[in-house]
Amino acid sequence: MGAHLPPALRRPAVLWTALIAALAAAVITVLVVVPGDDTGEASYLDPDAPIADRVADLLGRMTIEEKVGQMTQVAVPAIEGVPADIGDLGIGSLLNGGSDALRDTPEAWAEMIDGFQSEAMGSRLRIPLMYGIDAVHGNGALPGAVIFPHNIGLGAAHDPALAAEAAAITAAETRATGVHWTFAPCVCVARDSRWGRTYESFGEDPGLAVEYAGPVVEGYQGEDLAANGSVLATAKHYAGDGGTALGSSTTDDYLLDQGVTTLTEEELRSIHLAPFKAAVDAGVGSVMVSFSSTDLGDGPLKTHGDAYLVNEVLKGELGFDGFVVSDWQGVDQVSEDYAEAVRTSINAGVDMVMVPFEYRRFIDTLLAEVDSGGIGEERIDDAVSRILTQKFALGLFEQPYADTAGAAEIGSAEHREAARRAAAASQTLLRNDDGLLPLAGDESIYLAGSGADSLGRQMGGWTASWQGSVEAVTEGTSIRAGLEAVAPDAAIAYSETASEPIGDADVGIVVVAEDPYAEGIGDAGAGAHDMRVSEADAAAIDTVCAAVACVVIVVSGRPIEITSHLAEVDALVAAWLPGSEGTGVADPLFGETPYGGRLPVTWPRSNDQEPMNVGDAAYDPLYPFGFGLQTA
Ligand code: GLC
Repeated sequence: MGAHLPPALRRPAVLWTALIAALAAAVITVLVVVPGDDTGEASYLDPDAPIADRVADLLGRMTIEEKVGQMTQVAVPAIEGVPADIGDLGIGSLLNGGSDALRDTPEAWAEMIDGFQSEAMGSRLRIPLMYGIDAVHGNGALPGAVIFPHNIGLGAAHDPALAAEAAAITAAETRATGVHWTFAPCVCVARDSRWGRTYESFGEDPGLAVEYAGPVVEGYQGEDLAANGSVLATAKHYAGDGGTALGSSTTDDYLLDQGVTTLTEEELRSIHLAPFKAAVDAGVGSVMVSFSSTDLGDGPLKTHGDAYLVNEVLKGELGFDGFVVSDWQGVDQVSEDYAEAVRTSINAGVDMVMVPFEYRRFIDTLLAEVDSGGIGEERIDDAVSRILTQKFALGLFEQPYADTAGAAEIGSAEHREAARRAAAASQTLLRNDDGLLPLAGDESIYLAGSGADSLGRQMGGWTASWQGSVEAVTEGTSIRAGLEAVAPDAAIAYSETASEPIGDADVGIVVVAEDPYAEGIGDAGAGAHDMRVSEADAAAIDTVCAAVACVVIVVSGRPIEITSHLAEVDALVAAWLPGSEGTGVADPLFGETPYGGRLPVTWPRSNDQEPMNVGDAAYDPLYPFGFGLQTA
């Protein structure tokens, strides 16, 4: 044995010393680095250790299976029957899509999530789950939570601080139910108002989204993500979701949503990327990639598989150090070959996949791709490090279970007052002939229209369910009740279709409304939602406004085609989707607050003028971007 050893090691004493040292090193290696070491006090469990050290320590202990589990997000209905899978597979995150009201009290929500969390905490390394939800204008999934105006109304208010306040209240009313993460804010820039997600944007001008992105992210995330009034925020949908062309959708029955955004890279950067830079600079912890595709000149590319936009621009150039989450089955759209779809998306920079149903197929496919070298383990480690970093920041390793202390404030008078202010500030006065508004508050008022007494319509989509409902699906104050509360001396007669006699009313108020919708189902012309005044509401306008001085209030997620209905209308107000506090619509109507809203989107004369945006060469709207009459 000695003959082929180097001379220095040919002496027995030196040889034995070297052998003992080598053996000791081997033993230490086995003790310290082999995956699966869960013995002894681990530094990843040390709350005082820097998060980067905790992440590195934990990552070094994880098997590839545990790492892949962390990258897997599952919808509750897919796993609630087999909760043991959470611990067995090390599932990293759960969600319920669409603001579905899976439970109806904070305690019941907390109990459900804690039940899932206990499965995760039973795993070998006790890595907690992160639970995500679309609390996009209040915690829409929780009956009794305050519902704020959707983003387009907040954009009309031109008040980022107010939007930040709304986000902070939403965060508190969400974390108090055991939910850690909201898929908000949408910092989309809606360039064609026929898009069913126009109301999720702050408007058509990137400057608005840039102005709002940072304050709103900070509103959700607070000073300390671990606090029970903070939730992890998500800037979405990266990038260009609001710039798709009519008819370009790759999803059946949709016209715009999930379509193709064709533009130059400079336009993409100035219009659609700028808000994400603002969100990243504000420290947003997650970014959701868009279903849509971009075509910069060499053909459409699904953003879920766009390594340039995700890896190079978002993570590289913008320096995003949070994690990228896919949209709902968004990875599947990248390729008909599922393995190729997974490989392309993960290599493009997607860190967590909202599978959200066939999670075993996803896990098996991802493991196979790592095994074959299609995805390098360093990519997996990067993704898992990003995810774990947010989990440590959320304090989940110290406090994995719900802290419902804040539940007492859910739906409180203080929170509702903030939502009322936000609704009032979003009201946008577009016509006011003869100074009809504000009303004195002692008039005989004839009230009509489908939006007058419909909490569901005034709250819109993402409220108790994905598409929302015309029913009163949660507590709140309808516009009708708001008028009665703000003007108790007024005599208000209500007839939705104006079928009752108008009598000697001094003034008529007709609240026209869109029925709620979400995503591509709301794309104008795709189906039930046509961005026009309904026949019943048009008839109500004609009846009431022919008889008395009248105000038309539009409850909608976007401008609707109204030009032909205005002949007899004296005052016109865009109320947007004002949320649960209808008093906010009444306040400026009776002069409790001034009208101050300004259009965050261009209001076209007709829908087929879309896309029409401020700055366009040919620009002939009914009301231009930024327009809004003020009252004292
Ligand atoms: C939806 C939406 C996204 C939402 C997610 C979870 O498809 O595109 O905005 O956060 O799924 O509900």
